[in-house]
Amino acid sequence: MKSPILALLALSVLAVLTNGTGTFSNPLRTRNGSDPFIVFVDGYYYLMTTTWTDVQLTRAPTLDGLKTGETRTLYTMANPNPNGGNDVWAPELHRVNGTWYVYFSEGRKSWVLTGGPEPWGTYDNKIQVHQEWGIDSTLVEIPSRGTYYVWSCMSAWNGEDLQSLCIAPLVNGTSIGPWSVLSRPTEPWERIGVPVNEGPAGLNHAGRTWVAYSASFCKTPDYSVAALRWDGVGDPLEAGSWTKSGGPLFQSARGEYGTAHNGFFTSPDGTEIWNVYHATQNANGSCGADRQTFAQKVGWKADGSPDLGVPAVAGEVLQAPSGEKAV
Ligand SMILES: *[C@@H]1O[C@H](CO)[C@@H](O)[C@H](O)[C@H]1NC(C)=O
Ligand SMILES: *[C@@H]1O[C@H](CO)[C@@H](O)[C@H](O)[C@H]1NC(C)=O
Ligand SMILES: *[C@@H]1O[C@H](CO)[C@@H](O)[C@H](O)[C@H]1NC(C)=O
Ligand SMILES: *[C@@H]1O[C@H](CO)[C@@H](O)[C@H](O)[C@H]1NC(C)=O
Repeated sequence: MKSPILALLALSVLAVLTNGTGTFSNPLRTRNGSDPFIVFVDGYYYLMTTTWTDVQLTRAPTLDGLKTGETRTLYTMANPNPNGGNDVWAPELHRVNGTWYVYFSEGRKSWVLTGGPEPWGTYDNKIQVHQEWGIDSTLVEIPSRGTYYVWSCMSAWNGEDLQSLCIAPLVNGTSIGPWSVLSRPTEPWERIGVPVNEGPAGLNHAGRTWVAYSASFCKTPDYSVAALRWDGVGDPLEAGSWTKSGGPLFQSARGEYGTAHNGFFTSPDGTEIWNVYHATQNANGSCGADRQTFAQKVGWKADGSPDLGVPAVAGEVLQAPSGEKAV
């Protein structure tokens, strides 16, 4: 084979073939795929997305298996509006000191359900984490500092009430310490449609921490992923300790729009970090249940920062996360 590109292609085809079932295709969820979150633990991927009236947990041993994975409903809202407008949003599953918790928003407030030592368990005792307006809560682990609770909050700036990001130390699974504003949508690319910072997701690599977040309004094609970076210096509770990316790191392309509200998860063998996000084929963007769940591997730039690449396309077959074993 004379062409190095052809040789490379042949090698990657071989890699796929010798890996047996180690492939998957996007999307992982064709409806109700908004605001996805995945964690891999003890042989299973666990997936949560926004389903509007309830909180569901799906699990499977392979990424592709999540399409038909076993699903549990962990919580159902008391009085769903049959005409829509229900806002149980963005559930996430996190382990705090050995106990699993589900964080989610309802009524633009932040709630937590307490589980047990196994993720595939029951969750109850719904507690409001704080009294402020708040959606899209996540936990960000900073190895040298501890666990932080980060969410989309309202904050004042230049006479505007802006959907921003706030941060607080996590005191225990259900309560937080004093909070502060981490980021406001002050840049033009964060203000398209409506000024928005939301959907935070923590990422650690080579001694640095990123909080990826979604910028601009979901019902525009400009809804995209940007990030704040912490270089290990200064108090993570202070906005000045973080550097905002100069623009989106991941955005609409290849016929997939509004590619954002992401999460990060680790491959089964712990060697790779993956990005799970939603996308719509509606060129105007979407804030609705038509958004689909996509996953793809995170690459790394020479300077050690994440390379989120370009969005995957529906139907495209990709190599599965490293160490995945079908059962
Ligand atoms: C989304 O999930 C909810 C709750 O289970 C369900 O009622 C609704 O029909 C689903 N919507 C779509 C578009 O599948
Ligand atoms: C976890 O446990 C350690 C040791 O008991 C404690 O110092 C820490 O505050 C706990 N963290 C949370 C978030 O509960
Ligand atoms: C978590 O901390 C809050 C506030 O200090 C306290 O009221 C609550 O009992 C604690 N929960 C647990 C499970 O320790
Ligand atoms: C996108 O928005 C334009 C302008 O409002 C509208 O004419 C068009 O039908 C929309 N397209 C879709 C796919 O909703």
